[in-house]
Amino acid sequence: DWVMADYIAEAVEKIRAQVGDEEVILGLSGGVDSSVAAALIHRAIGDQLTCVFVDHGLLRKDEGKMVIDMFAGKLHANIVAVDASEQFLGHLQGVSDPEQKRKIIGREFVEVFKAEAARLKAGGQGHQGATFLAQGTIYPDVIESGGAKSKKAVTIKSHHNVGGLPEQLGLKLLEPLRELFKDEVRELGVALGLPPEMVYRHPFPGPGLGVRILGEIKKEYADLLREADAIFIEELRNFRDEAAGKTWYDLTSQAFTVFLPVKSVGVMGDGRTYEYVVALRAVQTSDFMTADWAELPYALLKKVSSRIINEVRGINRVTYDVSSKPPATIEWE
Ligand code: XMP
Repeated sequence: DWVMADYIAEAVEKIRAQVGDEEVILGLSGGVDSSVAAALIHRAIGDQLTCVFVDHGLLRKDEGKMVIDMFAGKLHANIVAVDASEQFLGHLQGVSDPEQKRKIIGREFVEVFKAEAARLKAGGQGHQGATFLAQGTIYPDVIESGGAKSKKAVTIKSHHNVGGLPEQLGLKLLEPLRELFKDEVRELGVALGLPPEMVYRHPFPGPGLGVRILGEIKKEYADLLREADAIFIEELRNFRDEAAGKTWYDLTSQAFTVFLPVKSVGVMGDGRTYEYVVALRAVQTSDFMTADWAELPYALLKKVSSRIINEVRGINRVTYDVSSKPPATIEWE
């Protein structure tokens, strides 16, 4: 609509005025905020923007491919993809404490991003070198970082809106979404041509599958979890509630699969299996401070369970988490 078109035109002018002919780096996670910030800045300054996408090895299935297809393929934005999965998994080896895992992932993320940013700042290959760091900070983040906050609230945004990073890198800060609420960011994203499936995604934690694999993280576990989770999400998108006129993906606030590093006995054909267990988690909430487990249709649970057990070799049991928050949290770690 014209209101949004006017808003975009104004935001684009503002970015152009602020950046001039300088270059900008942005950490792209595939989440809503960084994606919309990238699309908006790209609309304003095109090739003067370079997006850095770090794969920490704990992303969902096809996440990297989706982000690169979208930004490099469709928007023709400059994107540097860094596969740091071995480095992350190496540092996480033997670590099972949830907060310790978060710390390591956060710290490594900053390391990898800093190294890329320093490279882009130095310029070369037709680039003069970046002088700006763009972040997808939105209005609620601005408020949150001003007031009292819980330990988790601090880590929540720690990956891509890293406090102090611009100063450390000697880069100026560009935050074009600072005045917007989440629903406005989503509308802006759609108006900029991002697919609604991307803009209306459930939130995904910075540490990714790292907090959805209980205890020690292993590549084998992450690979199994990625496959199982992709099936769950696909079926949530397939199942519609006709009365509500929505899919179960849109009827839930957050839904995902958790990997339990325990084995249980099963049977397959004439044989006995001894394989891993996963838990499905789906919640409805307005603020993520409290949440109810979602009353998913049995037909959906049945389909997901039989697909995971039949299609993901290594998992022979699927459970559904019927705990609300509080006292349980949404994530299992
Ligand atoms: P809990 O599990 O505390 O989660 O009920 C509340 C919301 O916060 C997200 N979450 C995180 N997001 N880094 C993030 O970026 C984290 O370390 C983290 N831990 C929890 C969680 O996915 C849910 O949306």
